[in-house]
Amino acid sequence: MTLFGATRTPRNIVFGAGQRKALPQFAARAGRRALVVTDERLAADRDFRDLIDAVGAAGVETRIFTGVIAELPVECIAAGVEAGKAFGADSVIGIGGGSCLDAAKAISLLLAHGGATADYYGEFKVPGPILPLISLPTTSGTGSEVTPVAVLTDPDRALKIGIASPYLISETAICDPELTYSCPPSLTAVSGADALTHAIEAFTTARREPSAGLVHEHVFLGKNAFSDHYALLAIEHIGASLRQAVENGNDHVARERLMFGAMAAGLAFGTAGTAAAHAVQYPVGAMTHTPHGTGVALMMPYVMQINRDWCAPELGEIGRALGVSMPDGPVELAADATIDAVADLLRAIGIPSSLKELGVTRGQLPTVCEQSLGIARLIKNNPRPLDVSSMDLLVAAAFSGDRASLVTAADKRKAS
Ligand SMILES: NC(=O)c1ccc[n+]([C@@H]2O[C@H](COP(=O)([O-])OP(=O)(O)OC[C@H]3O[C@@H](n4cnc5c(N)ncnc54)[C@H](O)[C@@H]3O)[C@@H](O)[C@H]2O)c1
Ligand SMILES: [Fe+2]
Repeated sequence: MTLFGATRTPRNIVFGAGQRKALPQFAARAGRRALVVTDERLAADRDFRDLIDAVGAAGVETRIFTGVIAELPVECIAAGVEAGKAFGADSVIGIGGGSCLDAAKAISLLLAHGGATADYYGEFKVPGPILPLISLPTTSGTGSEVTPVAVLTDPDRALKIGIASPYLISETAICDPELTYSCPPSLTAVSGADALTHAIEAFTTARREPSAGLVHEHVFLGKNAFSDHYALLAIEHIGASLRQAVENGNDHVARERLMFGAMAAGLAFGTAGTAAAHAVQYPVGAMTHTPHGTGVALMMPYVMQINRDWCAPELGEIGRALGVSMPDGPVELAADATIDAVADLLRAIGIPSSLKELGVTRGQLPTVCEQSLGIARLIKNNPRPLDVSSMDLLVAAAFSGDRASLVTAADKRKAS
Protein backbone atom coordinates (compact mmCIF):
# COMPACT_ATOMS: atom_id res chain seq x y z
CA MET A 1 0.00 0.00 0.00
CA THR A 2 1.33 3.45 -0.85
CA LEU A 3 1.23 6.02 1.91
CA PHE A 4 -0.91 9.07 1.29
CA GLY A 5 -1.83 11.54 4.00
CA ALA A 6 -3.01 15.09 4.61
CA THR A 7 -3.53 17.09 7.77
CA ARG A 8 -5.32 20.37 8.24
CA THR A 9 -5.03 21.42 11.84
CA PRO A 10 -4.94 24.48 14.08
CA ARG A 11 -1.52 26.13 14.34
CA ASN A 12 -1.52 25.36 18.08
CA ILE A 13 -3.23 22.51 19.90
CA VAL A 14 -2.79 22.47 23.66
CA PHE A 15 -4.21 19.66 25.75
CA GLY A 16 -4.23 19.13 29.50
CA ALA A 17 -6.00 19.69 32.82
CA GLY A 18 -5.72 23.38 33.75
CA GLN A 19 -4.49 24.46 30.28
CA ARG A 20 -7.39 26.93 29.85
CA LYS A 21 -5.09 29.24 31.81
CA ALA A 22 -2.84 29.34 28.73
CA LEU A 23 -5.63 31.31 26.99
CA PRO A 24 -4.61 34.90 27.89
CA GLN A 25 -1.23 34.73 26.15
CA PHE A 26 -2.70 33.10 23.04
CA ALA A 27 -5.44 35.77 23.03
CA ALA A 28 -2.84 38.54 23.25
CA ARG A 29 -1.04 37.05 20.25
CA ALA A 30 -4.30 36.81 18.27
CA GLY A 31 -5.48 40.43 18.66
CA ARG A 32 -6.41 43.35 20.93
CA ARG A 33 -10.22 43.11 20.89
CA ALA A 34 -11.66 39.64 21.30
CA LEU A 35 -15.33 38.73 20.91
CA VAL A 36 -16.02 35.83 23.28
CA VAL A 37 -18.73 33.54 21.88
CA THR A 38 -20.57 31.36 24.39
CA ASP A 39 -24.02 30.59 25.83
CA GLU A 40 -25.84 31.80 28.93
CA ARG A 41 -25.01 28.68 30.92
CA LEU A 42 -21.27 29.21 30.75
CA ALA A 43 -21.45 33.00 30.95
CA ALA A 44 -22.96 32.61 34.43
CA ASP A 45 -20.04 30.48 35.59
CA ARG A 46 -17.57 32.03 38.05
CA ASP A 47 -14.54 30.20 36.66
CA PHE A 48 -15.43 31.42 33.16
CA ARG A 49 -15.56 35.04 34.36
CA ASP A 50 -12.16 34.64 36.02
CA LEU A 51 -10.71 33.28 32.78
CA ILE A 52 -12.05 36.21 30.76
CA ASP A 53 -10.74 38.65 33.40
CA ALA A 54 -7.31 37.05 32.95
CA VAL A 55 -7.57 37.71 29.19
CA GLY A 56 -8.29 41.35 30.04
CA ALA A 57 -5.28 41.48 32.33
CA ALA A 58 -3.14 40.34 29.39
CA GLY A 59 -4.10 43.55 27.55
CA VAL A 60 -6.95 42.18 25.41
CA GLU A 61 -10.31 43.93 25.59
CA THR A 62 -13.23 41.50 25.52
CA ARG A 63 -16.95 41.57 24.75
CA ILE A 64 -18.95 38.50 25.75
CA PHE A 65 -21.70 37.32 23.37
CA THR A 66 -23.94 34.88 25.23
CA GLY A 67 -26.58 34.31 22.54
CA VAL A 68 -25.57 30.86 21.25
CA ILE A 69 -28.49 28.41 21.15
CA ALA A 70 -27.91 24.64 20.97
CA GLU A 71 -28.00 23.18 17.43
CA LEU A 72 -27.24 26.69 16.17
CA PRO A 73 -30.12 28.49 14.44
CA VAL A 74 -28.68 31.05 11.95
CA GLU A 75 -30.37 33.99 13.72
CA CYS A 76 -28.06 33.62 16.68
CA ILE A 77 -25.05 33.80 14.38
CA ALA A 78 -26.35 37.07 12.89
CA ALA A 79 -26.74 38.49 16.41
CA GLY A 80 -23.16 37.46 17.23
CA VAL A 81 -21.86 39.15 14.07
CA GLU A 82 -23.66 42.38 15.01
CA ALA A 83 -22.12 42.25 18.49
CA GLY A 84 -18.66 41.68 16.98
CA LYS A 85 -19.03 44.56 14.50
CA ALA A 86 -20.29 46.99 17.14
CA PHE A 87 -17.31 46.08 19.32
CA GLY A 88 -14.77 46.24 16.47
CA ALA A 89 -13.56 42.71 17.20
CA ASP A 90 -10.24 41.70 15.64
CA SER A 91 -10.27 38.15 17.05
CA VAL A 92 -12.74 35.59 18.40
CA ILE A 93 -12.69 33.17 21.33
CA GLY A 94 -15.25 30.34 21.18
CA ILE A 95 -15.91 28.53 24.44
CA GLY A 96 -18.60 25.90 25.07
CA GLY A 97 -19.97 22.78 23.41
CA GLY A 98 -19.91 22.16 19.66
CA SER A 99 -22.73 24.66 19.14
CA CYS A 100 -20.67 27.51 20.66
CA LEU A 101 -17.52 26.51 18.78
CA ASP A 102 -19.37 26.31 15.46
CA ALA A 103 -21.03 29.69 16.17
CA ALA A 104 -17.60 31.19 16.83
CA LYS A 105 -16.34 29.80 13.51
CA ALA A 106 -19.27 31.23 11.54
CA ILE A 107 -19.00 34.61 13.33
CA SER A 108 -15.23 34.80 12.65
CA LEU A 109 -15.97 34.05 9.02
CA LEU A 110 -18.67 36.70 8.63
CA LEU A 111 -16.67 39.34 10.51
CA ALA A 112 -13.78 38.76 8.10
CA HIS A 113 -15.66 38.45 4.81
CA GLY A 114 -19.15 39.96 5.28
CA GLY A 115 -22.26 38.66 3.53
CA ALA A 116 -24.74 36.17 4.94
CA THR A 117 -24.17 32.70 6.37
CA ALA A 118 -25.93 31.13 3.36
CA ASP A 119 -23.27 32.56 1.01
CA TYR A 120 -20.80 30.01 2.41
CA TYR A 121 -22.87 26.79 2.61
CA GLY A 122 -21.06 23.81 1.09
CA GLU A 123 -17.37 23.24 0.49
CA PHE A 124 -14.57 25.70 -0.40
CA LYS A 125 -16.82 28.77 -0.40
CA VAL A 126 -14.75 30.68 2.19
CA PRO A 127 -12.49 33.00 0.18
CA GLY A 128 -9.64 33.49 2.66
CA PRO A 129 -8.53 33.50 6.31
CA ILE A 130 -11.17 34.16 8.95
CA LEU A 131 -10.52 36.30 12.06
CA PRO A 132 -8.01 34.59 14.37
CA LEU A 133 -10.05 32.10 16.38
CA ILE A 134 -9.27 30.36 19.67
CA SER A 135 -11.54 27.43 20.60
CA LEU A 136 -12.03 25.87 24.03
CA PRO A 137 -14.45 22.92 24.09
CA THR A 138 -16.49 22.15 27.21
CA THR A 139 -17.82 18.80 25.93
CA SER A 140 -15.81 15.76 24.84
CA GLY A 141 -17.59 15.26 21.55
CA THR A 142 -17.64 17.17 18.30
CA GLY A 143 -13.92 17.85 17.85
CA SER A 144 -15.01 21.18 16.31
CA GLU A 145 -12.01 22.87 17.94
CA VAL A 146 -9.77 21.16 15.37
CA THR A 147 -12.09 20.54 12.37
CA PRO A 148 -12.68 22.61 9.21
CA VAL A 149 -16.49 22.60 9.43
CA ALA A 150 -19.39 24.36 11.19
CA VAL A 151 -22.87 22.85 11.22
CA LEU A 152 -25.95 25.02 11.63
CA THR A 153 -29.72 25.17 11.38
CA ASP A 154 -31.32 27.36 8.71
CA PRO A 155 -35.14 27.65 8.76
CA ASP A 156 -35.07 27.84 4.94
CA ARG A 157 -33.56 24.34 4.79
CA ALA A 158 -35.20 21.12 5.88
CA LEU A 159 -31.89 19.71 7.18
CA LYS A 160 -28.90 21.10 9.04
CA ILE A 161 -26.30 22.56 6.75
CA GLY A 162 -22.52 22.73 6.85
CA ILE A 163 -19.86 25.25 5.95
CA ALA A 164 -16.66 23.35 5.23
CA SER A 165 -13.39 25.00 4.33
CA PRO A 166 -9.71 24.65 5.22
CA TYR A 167 -9.95 28.33 6.27
CA LEU A 168 -12.58 27.49 8.91
CA ILE A 169 -10.07 26.03 11.35
CA SER A 170 -9.23 27.57 14.72
CA GLU A 171 -5.81 29.16 14.99
CA THR A 172 -5.52 27.70 18.49
CA ALA A 173 -7.40 24.85 20.18
CA ILE A 174 -7.14 24.60 23.97
CA CYS A 175 -8.60 21.38 25.35
CA ASP A 176 -8.88 21.42 29.13
CA PRO A 177 -10.67 18.35 30.52
CA GLU A 178 -11.55 20.28 33.69
CA LEU A 179 -14.05 22.22 31.55
CA THR A 180 -15.99 18.96 31.04
CA TYR A 181 -16.32 18.07 34.75
CA SER A 182 -19.73 19.75 34.86
CA CYS A 183 -21.17 17.67 31.98
CA PRO A 184 -24.06 15.52 33.32
CA PRO A 185 -24.02 11.79 32.44
CA SER A 186 -26.47 12.12 29.53
CA LEU A 187 -24.42 14.89 27.84
CA THR A 188 -21.19 12.95 28.47
CA ALA A 189 -22.78 9.89 26.83
CA VAL A 190 -24.26 11.63 23.82
CA SER A 191 -21.24 13.80 23.01
CA GLY A 192 -18.78 10.95 23.71
CA ALA A 193 -20.76 8.63 21.44
CA ASP A 194 -20.55 11.28 18.70
CA ALA A 195 -16.76 11.28 19.10
CA LEU A 196 -16.58 7.48 18.89
CA THR A 197 -18.70 7.60 15.73
CA HIS A 198 -16.35 10.20 14.20
CA ALA A 199 -13.38 7.91 14.80
CA ILE A 200 -15.08 4.75 13.47
CA GLU A 201 -16.47 6.50 10.38
CA ALA A 202 -13.10 8.16 9.66
CA PHE A 203 -11.27 4.84 9.95
CA THR A 204 -13.71 2.96 7.70
CA THR A 205 -14.41 5.71 5.19
CA ALA A 206 -13.65 5.10 1.51
CA ARG A 207 -10.09 5.64 0.32
CA ARG A 208 -9.75 7.81 -2.80
CA GLU A 209 -7.19 7.74 -5.59
CA PRO A 210 -4.52 10.16 -4.31
CA SER A 211 -4.41 12.40 -7.37
CA ALA A 212 -2.65 15.77 -7.13
CA GLY A 213 -6.06 17.46 -7.12
CA LEU A 214 -7.51 15.47 -4.24
CA VAL A 215 -6.75 17.95 -1.44
CA HIS A 216 -8.11 20.82 -3.53
CA GLU A 217 -11.30 19.11 -4.67
CA HIS A 218 -12.49 17.72 -1.34
CA VAL A 219 -12.46 19.19 2.16
CA PHE A 220 -13.08 15.66 3.40
CA LEU A 221 -10.74 13.63 1.28
CA GLY A 222 -11.14 10.09 2.56
CA LYS A 223 -9.21 7.62 4.63
CA ASN A 224 -5.48 8.38 4.74
CA ALA A 225 -2.36 7.65 6.75
CA PHE A 226 -2.77 10.58 9.17
CA SER A 227 -6.49 10.13 9.72
CA ASP A 228 -5.94 6.42 10.43
CA HIS A 229 -3.37 7.28 13.09
CA TYR A 230 -5.68 9.76 14.82
CA ALA A 231 -8.73 7.49 14.50
CA LEU A 232 -7.06 4.55 16.24
CA LEU A 233 -5.65 6.86 18.91
CA ALA A 234 -9.16 8.19 19.47
CA ILE A 235 -10.78 4.74 19.61
CA GLU A 236 -8.23 3.51 22.13
CA HIS A 237 -8.83 6.45 24.49
CA ILE A 238 -12.59 6.63 24.04
CA GLY A 239 -12.94 2.85 24.43
CA ALA A 240 -11.09 3.03 27.76
CA SER A 241 -13.03 6.00 29.12
CA LEU A 242 -16.51 6.57 27.71
CA ARG A 243 -18.43 4.23 29.97
CA GLN A 244 -16.31 5.20 32.98
CA ALA A 245 -16.87 8.95 32.46
CA VAL A 246 -20.62 8.45 32.09
CA GLU A 247 -20.87 6.26 35.19
CA ASN A 248 -18.63 8.41 37.36
CA GLY A 249 -18.20 12.04 36.35
CA ASN A 250 -15.58 12.43 39.08
CA ASP A 251 -13.27 9.96 37.36
CA HIS A 252 -10.79 12.56 36.18
CA VAL A 253 -8.61 10.08 34.34
CA ALA A 254 -11.64 8.99 32.29
CA ARG A 255 -12.64 12.64 31.67
CA GLU A 256 -9.11 13.36 30.43
CA ARG A 257 -8.90 10.34 28.15
CA LEU A 258 -12.37 10.99 26.74
CA MET A 259 -11.48 14.55 25.83
CA PHE A 260 -8.17 13.47 24.31
CA GLY A 261 -10.06 10.85 22.27
CA ALA A 262 -12.69 13.35 21.10
CA MET A 263 -9.97 15.77 19.96
CA ALA A 264 -8.10 12.97 18.14
CA ALA A 265 -11.37 11.88 16.50
CA GLY A 266 -11.81 15.45 15.26
CA LEU A 267 -8.32 15.36 13.75
CA ALA A 268 -9.27 12.07 12.04
CA PHE A 269 -12.62 12.99 10.54
CA GLY A 270 -11.53 16.58 9.85
CA THR A 271 -9.65 15.29 6.82
CA ALA A 272 -11.14 11.80 6.23
CA GLY A 273 -14.81 12.75 6.63
CA THR A 274 -17.77 10.88 8.08
CA ALA A 275 -20.29 8.72 6.23
CA ALA A 276 -23.68 6.99 6.42
CA ALA A 277 -24.26 7.21 10.20
CA HIS A 278 -23.92 10.98 9.97
CA ALA A 279 -25.99 11.16 6.76
CA VAL A 280 -28.97 9.34 8.31
CA GLN A 281 -28.81 11.51 11.45
CA TYR A 282 -29.52 14.68 9.45
CA PRO A 283 -33.16 13.82 8.58
CA VAL A 284 -33.64 11.84 11.79
CA GLY A 285 -32.44 14.78 13.92
CA ALA A 286 -34.72 17.18 12.01
CA MET A 287 -37.75 14.88 12.48
CA THR A 288 -37.23 13.95 16.11
CA HIS A 289 -35.39 17.01 17.49
CA THR A 290 -32.92 14.71 19.18
CA PRO A 291 -29.23 15.58 19.69
CA HIS A 292 -26.74 14.95 16.92
CA GLY A 293 -24.71 12.47 19.03
CA THR A 294 -27.73 10.31 19.84
CA GLY A 295 -28.70 9.84 16.20
CA VAL A 296 -25.22 9.16 14.82
CA ALA A 297 -24.40 6.69 17.61
CA LEU A 298 -27.71 4.87 17.26
CA MET A 299 -26.96 4.32 13.57
CA MET A 300 -23.31 3.30 14.03
CA PRO A 301 -23.72 -0.47 14.67
CA TYR A 302 -26.18 -0.79 11.76
CA VAL A 303 -23.85 1.09 9.45
CA MET A 304 -20.90 -1.07 10.56
CA GLN A 305 -22.99 -4.16 9.88
CA ILE A 306 -24.10 -3.17 6.38
CA ASN A 307 -20.53 -2.13 5.57
CA ARG A 308 -18.96 -5.21 7.11
CA ASP A 309 -17.84 -6.97 3.95
CA TRP A 310 -16.40 -3.76 2.55
CA CYS A 311 -14.19 -3.00 5.55
CA ALA A 312 -13.85 -6.17 7.66
CA PRO A 313 -10.07 -5.77 8.30
CA GLU A 314 -10.60 -2.16 9.47
CA LEU A 315 -13.42 -3.26 11.76
CA GLY A 316 -11.08 -5.85 13.27
CA GLU A 317 -8.47 -3.15 13.92
CA ILE A 318 -11.11 -0.99 15.58
CA GLY A 319 -11.98 -3.90 17.88
CA ARG A 320 -8.34 -4.37 18.84
CA ALA A 321 -8.02 -0.64 19.63
CA LEU A 322 -11.15 -0.91 21.77
CA GLY A 323 -9.58 -3.80 23.65
CA VAL A 324 -12.08 -6.43 22.45
CA SER A 325 -10.73 -9.98 22.68
CA MET A 326 -10.67 -11.20 19.12
CA PRO A 327 -11.82 -14.63 17.98
CA ASP A 328 -9.47 -16.75 15.85
CA GLY A 329 -10.46 -17.42 12.26
CA PRO A 330 -11.66 -15.33 9.34
CA VAL A 331 -11.48 -11.55 9.55
CA GLU A 332 -15.29 -11.37 9.38
CA LEU A 333 -15.48 -12.94 12.84
CA ALA A 334 -13.27 -10.22 14.28
CA ALA A 335 -15.41 -7.63 12.51
CA ASP A 336 -18.58 -9.12 14.03
CA ALA A 337 -17.03 -9.14 17.51
CA THR A 338 -16.19 -5.44 17.08
CA ILE A 339 -19.72 -4.53 15.97
CA ASP A 340 -21.18 -6.39 18.96
CA ALA A 341 -18.77 -4.63 21.33
CA VAL A 342 -19.65 -1.18 19.95
CA ALA A 343 -23.39 -1.95 20.20
CA ASP A 344 -22.93 -3.16 23.80
CA LEU A 345 -20.94 -0.06 24.77
CA LEU A 346 -23.53 2.30 23.29
CA ARG A 347 -26.37 0.43 24.99
CA ALA A 348 -24.52 0.55 28.32
CA ILE A 349 -24.31 4.36 28.17
CA GLY A 350 -27.99 4.72 27.33
CA ILE A 351 -28.02 5.33 23.57
CA PRO A 352 -31.37 4.09 22.18
CA SER A 353 -30.99 1.13 19.84
CA SER A 354 -33.74 1.76 17.26
CA LEU A 355 -35.11 4.67 15.25
CA LYS A 356 -38.56 3.69 16.53
CA GLU A 357 -37.39 4.35 20.10
CA LEU A 358 -36.13 7.75 18.97
CA GLY A 359 -39.60 8.73 17.71
CA VAL A 360 -39.30 8.09 13.97
CA THR A 361 -42.51 6.61 12.50
CA ARG A 362 -42.70 3.89 9.84
CA GLY A 363 -44.35 6.38 7.48
CA GLN A 364 -41.28 8.65 7.70
CA LEU A 365 -38.82 5.96 6.54
CA PRO A 366 -39.02 6.74 2.79
CA THR A 367 -38.20 10.40 3.56
CA VAL A 368 -35.31 9.34 5.82
CA CYS A 369 -33.92 7.22 2.95
CA GLU A 370 -34.35 9.85 0.29
CA GLN A 371 -32.91 12.70 2.34
CA SER A 372 -29.97 10.61 3.62
CA LEU A 373 -29.01 9.58 0.10
CA GLY A 374 -29.27 13.24 -0.90
CA ILE A 375 -26.35 14.18 1.38
CA ALA A 376 -23.83 13.32 -1.30
CA ARG A 377 -20.77 14.69 0.55
CA LEU A 378 -21.30 12.05 3.29
CA ILE A 379 -22.75 9.19 1.23
CA LYS A 380 -19.80 9.29 -1.18
CA ASN A 381 -17.51 8.46 1.77
CA ASN A 382 -19.27 5.26 2.76
CA PRO A 383 -17.07 2.20 2.17
CA ARG A 384 -20.00 0.29 0.66
CA PRO A 385 -21.55 2.26 -2.18
CA LEU A 386 -25.13 2.95 -1.09
CA ASP A 387 -28.12 2.98 -3.42
CA VAL A 388 -31.86 3.16 -2.78
CA SER A 389 -32.24 -0.55 -1.98
CA SER A 390 -29.27 -0.77 0.42
CA MET A 391 -30.33 2.46 2.14
CA ASP A 392 -33.86 1.04 2.49
CA LEU A 393 -32.40 -2.06 4.08
CA LEU A 394 -30.23 -0.04 6.47
CA VAL A 395 -32.99 2.27 7.61
CA ALA A 396 -35.55 -0.55 7.98
CA ALA A 397 -33.13 -2.53 10.17
CA ALA A 398 -32.35 0.53 12.31
CA PHE A 399 -36.05 1.35 12.62
CA SER A 400 -36.99 -2.03 14.04
CA GLY A 401 -33.72 -2.64 15.93
CA ASP A 402 -33.01 -5.72 13.83
CA ARG A 403 -29.28 -5.72 13.08
CA ALA A 404 -29.47 -9.44 12.27
CA SER A 405 -31.44 -8.66 9.09
CA LEU A 406 -28.32 -6.95 7.75
CA VAL A 407 -26.07 -9.88 8.63
CA THR A 408 -28.16 -12.16 6.43
CA ALA A 409 -28.26 -9.71 3.57
CA ALA A 410 -24.50 -9.17 3.62
CA ASP A 411 -23.75 -12.88 3.83
CA LYS A 412 -26.12 -13.70 1.00
CA ARG A 413 -24.52 -11.09 -1.20
CA LYS A 414 -21.07 -12.46 -0.46
CA ALA A 415 -22.14 -16.01 -1.25
CA SER A 416 -23.79 -15.08 -4.55
N1 LIG B 1 -18.04 21.33 13.67
C1 LIG B 1 -17.92 20.04 13.84
O1 LIG B 1 -16.89 19.48 13.50
C2 LIG B 1 -19.06 19.27 14.45
C3 LIG B 1 -18.97 17.88 14.56
C4 LIG B 1 -20.04 17.18 15.15
C5 LIG B 1 -21.16 17.90 15.62
N2 LIG B 1 -21.21 19.26 15.47
C6 LIG B 1 -22.35 20.07 15.97
O2 LIG B 1 -22.10 20.37 17.36
C7 LIG B 1 -23.35 20.50 18.05
C8 LIG B 1 -23.39 19.56 19.24
O3 LIG B 1 -22.38 19.94 20.14
P1 LIG B 1 -22.27 19.29 21.62
O4 LIG B 1 -22.59 17.85 21.55
O5 LIG B 1 -20.93 19.68 22.13
O6 LIG B 1 -23.45 20.00 22.43
P2 LIG B 1 -23.97 21.50 22.42
O7 LIG B 1 -22.87 22.46 22.19
O8 LIG B 1 -25.15 21.59 21.50
O9 LIG B 1 -24.47 21.66 23.92
C9 LIG B 1 -25.58 20.93 24.41
C10 LIG B 1 -25.96 21.47 25.79
O10 LIG B 1 -24.93 21.14 26.71
C11 LIG B 1 -24.55 22.28 27.47
N3 LIG B 1 -23.14 22.15 27.89
C12 LIG B 1 -22.02 22.27 27.12
N4 LIG B 1 -20.92 22.06 27.86
C13 LIG B 1 -21.34 21.79 29.13
C14 LIG B 1 -20.66 21.50 30.36
N5 LIG B 1 -19.32 21.43 30.42
N6 LIG B 1 -21.42 21.28 31.47
C15 LIG B 1 -22.79 21.36 31.42
N7 LIG B 1 -23.48 21.62 30.28
C16 LIG B 1 -22.76 21.85 29.15
C17 LIG B 1 -24.82 23.46 26.55
O11 LIG B 1 -24.99 24.67 27.30
C18 LIG B 1 -26.09 23.00 25.83
O12 LIG B 1 -27.23 23.32 26.59
C19 LIG B 1 -24.44 20.16 17.04
O13 LIG B 1 -24.95 21.38 16.49
C20 LIG B 1 -23.69 19.37 15.96
O14 LIG B 1 -24.31 19.43 14.70
C21 LIG B 1 -20.17 19.94 14.92
FE1 LIG C 1 -20.76 14.08 14.63
